[in-house]
Amino acid sequence: AKIFAYGIRDDEQPALNAWREANPGVTVEFTDQLLTPETAKLAAGFDAVNVYQQLDYTRETLAALHEAGITKMSLRNVGTDNIDFDAAREFGFQISNVPVYSPNAIAEHSMIQMSRLLRRTKELDAKIAKHDLRWAPTIGREMRMQTIGIIGTGHIGRVAMKIAQGFGAKVIAYDLYKNAEIEAAGLYVDTLDELFAQADVISLYVPGVPANHHLINADSIAKMKDGVVIVNVSRGNLMDIDAVIAGLDSGKIADFSMDVYEEEVGLFNIDWSGKTFPDDKIADLISRENVLVTPHTAFYTTKAVEEMVSQSLSADLAFINGEVPSIAVEY
Ligand code: COI
Repeated sequence: AKIFAYGIRDDEQPALNAWREANPGVTVEFTDQLLTPETAKLAAGFDAVNVYQQLDYTRETLAALHEAGITKMSLRNVGTDNIDFDAAREFGFQISNVPVYSPNAIAEHSMIQMSRLLRRTKELDAKIAKHDLRWAPTIGREMRMQTIGIIGTGHIGRVAMKIAQGFGAKVIAYDLYKNAEIEAAGLYVDTLDELFAQADVISLYVPGVPANHHLINADSIAKMKDGVVIVNVSRGNLMDIDAVIAGLDSGKIADFSMDVYEEEVGLFNIDWSGKTFPDDKIADLISRENVLVTPHTAFYTTKAVEEMVSQSLSADLAFINGEVPSIAVEY
């Protein structure tokens, strides 16, 4: 069996080497280049590809892979929103993702950011850096005093709920797909509007599918409590960022943390030091003391990277062996 992996970063190589050692009969070759219509031909002669990228898997890219003899593709990440599934179906692709590489990685990050917002650590750090060691006016709020509204109760949302409960917060949740345990605990509200009306803090754990496009917009923000805190570690397209900025300007939104941004491709995971950001909105958001921006790093832990690499390579191998891995994407 021969697998070709695209977009391999240095931090993924130890996990890739460990998987190779555990699977001596399998050849795994890789490049740091992303999968594009041009680089697709590098996979000719292999049985499957292994990929992670935020660039779209376009019809053209999938056609080029198909032309190179490849119809098995394992993603090292969870999101599949950048795949042209119509084209994938047409070319007969078998695709897998890694839905559960480490829900804790993302859930923990969201709760850390939520805590940082409530305790105003960005302001405090800035004061301390200026040698101002006074308390006031940087008074914080306690988690246990908050009603935390969790939108999306998949693997990640559920870990976030447990962490929030550990802090003693009141947790409420909304999801179209109900989890039995959360339902039994009576934590679901029936509508998003109820969640917007009740939550002091809102945190998102839903995929960036078209139905969720701009879930957070001027209308939904208007339904939220004054001084709401919003955390997004899921997908940038869940928010109309202009409406969020307007909410921050008016004070309707007191604090905001974003790990994802609709226009993040070509912006995040790039060193802009000494340069001007190509995007005025991100520069504005980063400059605000009540806004925390991280560049899509919620997932980025040693455990998550290990799982992303090993689970996706095992899925590739299952496809090659004519099996359907448990993490195959049904589409
Ligand atoms: C995903 O797994 O879909 C993510 O958003 C993390 C990615 C940046 C590797």
